[in-house]
Amino acid sequence: MERFKDKIALVTGSSQGIGAACALRLASEGADIILNGRKLDERGEKLIAAIEQMGRRAVFVEADISQVKGVNHLITQAIQTYGRLDILVNNAGVEKNHNFWEVTEADFDLVMDTNLKGVFFGTQAFVKHCIDSKVAGVVVNMSSVHEEIVFPHFAAYCASKGALKMLTRNLATELAPFNIRVNNVAPGAIATPINKSLLNDEEKLGKLLENIPMKKLGTPEDVAAIVAFLASDDAKYVTGSTYFVDGGLTYHYEEQ
Ligand code: NAI
Ligand code: BGC
Repeated sequence: MERFKDKIALVTGSSQGIGAACALRLASEGADIILNGRKLDERGEKLIAAIEQMGRRAVFVEADISQVKGVNHLITQAIQTYGRLDILVNNAGVEKNHNFWEVTEADFDLVMDTNLKGVFFGTQAFVKHCIDSKVAGVVVNMSSVHEEIVFPHFAAYCASKGALKMLTRNLATELAPFNIRVNNVAPGAIATPINKSLLNDEEKLGKLLENIPMKKLGTPEDVAAIVAFLASDDAKYVTGSTYFVDGGLTYHYEEQ
């Protein structure tokens, strides 16, 4: 089924992990794709080839989305490439593991600028395009279960994702009159490079799995399926929501 025929989608931070899976999933359903990362390398080149193999078009725009200048450049390039932009997946994100009392200003800024400021101003640039060109745009933000539940030693990360939850609620209301939808996807623990140290630590991984009712990590493809749903017309009455993809992690409770 081609849910994204004639649609152009931009996925930020799409060289690997969840972003790459989203790009492939949207392309597999008919979208042309703007990939993004700070630098094009062989991962991006392979993705372009894979998308072209599906009969779709793809380009990679180098941009650092943690800077307003970078994210504005990205949106402008994305619109210019195929003449319009319909879907924005704000996926790029970073996390830093520190005791709260040891977090530096530089680490705080990196996390907030990437996970919140880049999303805020990237969405702003996209929305201006949608309003000017009368595009019924769709925004999907890659939030986290940590927009809702705590994650000790990741205070800045939780603050950024918590803010994303409220940003989405707010924009959904403000942008509904323009037929622009905004939703969050909140993955639990997904096997990607962001979790490299966790995946290499058997004890930590074991403890985490005890908290996941489904007793396994998710895959990037599990997340991409929900992104595709929210980006599609199947979700045409869905806005301002968060969809959890977490094997039951968030609302897990068992009597011992
Ligand atoms: P990842 O680290 O594998 O991929 C993130 C990508 O974003 C990388 O390619 C990275 O280079 C890119 N990126 C980072 N900063 C950037 C910048 N300033 N400009 C352009 N690109 C940038 O991580 P993963 O796991 O694929 O995460 C993607 C999103 O999903 C993030 O927002 C993360 O917070 C979120 N998430 C991930 C979970 C997981 O368990 N893997 C769970 C919940 C949320
Ligand atoms: C984090 C992962 C973590 C997962 C579950 C995500 O937001 O990026 O590092 O494993 O939440 O706690």
